[in-house]
Amino acid sequence: MGVISPRQRAYLRALGIPLWRRQAAPGQYAAESDAPAALPARQTAPAPSADSVAQAAPVIAGSDWSELEAAVSGCRACGLCESRTRTVFGVGNREADWMIIGEAPGAEEDRQGKPFVGRAGQLLDKMLLAVGLRRDQVFVANLLKCRPPGNRDPKPEEALACQAYLARQIALVRPRILLSVGRVSAQHLLASDTPVGRLRGTVHRHPDSALPVVVTYHPAYLLRKPVEKRKAWDDLQLARDTLKKNPSP
Ligand code: URA
Repeated sequence: MGVISPRQRAYLRALGIPLWRRQAAPGQYAAESDAPAALPARQTAPAPSADSVAQAAPVIAGSDWSELEAAVSGCRACGLCESRTRTVFGVGNREADWMIIGEAPGAEEDRQGKPFVGRAGQLLDKMLLAVGLRRDQVFVANLLKCRPPGNRDPKPEEALACQAYLARQIALVRPRILLSVGRVSAQHLLASDTPVGRLRGTVHRHPDSALPVVVTYHPAYLLRKPVEKRKAWDDLQLARDTLKKNPSP
């Protein structure tokens, strides 16, 4: 890490990153990524029909914000619509440079209809503040707009059913960078099965939009493994530096 200002130092403290501590040796902690890519053990939710996804896609592709919001709130493309309380569309600045992409709503998000409002969300806010960004300066969305029961990982077919919504959000916001948080988000966005610990640390290109993608750990994982927060701090600096090197047109 380079020289850090007193303000950054204060943010790092707020994040719980001890400035005096050595970084853990590689491999000392099992990264969330080191788990093999999740394969659905058994399908419980009915898979979206190819027809429902294909029929919805062209409509979504040309939608404005209100049409897109209406499509999401009425969506029945996969079995998650049966158990959700509310859809979680996404919040923030609709002209943001940064778009943060998480995995799926949890219990609190499902109740409130907003992404990242639980403990993980509070940590995400601190992570963003560490690079000088308030929540209302970025746009925050998830791969999935509905909560998987019991907070299980999204299934590939659910991410597929929801994919056109996120693609349209990216097209409408026109961010300059995507910050992908967590293994499921990173592997889906980059169409990769590489562990998140190896996806982080470099700037990728989003295959669909060609936008730069920086991958970091999910804040829920960081709550369990605070020693990894320092790496997340590096990731956020990488994202910020990437934007600095490519000033807006
Ligand atoms: N985890 C996510 O990936 N997204 C949320 O909105 C909440 C928790």
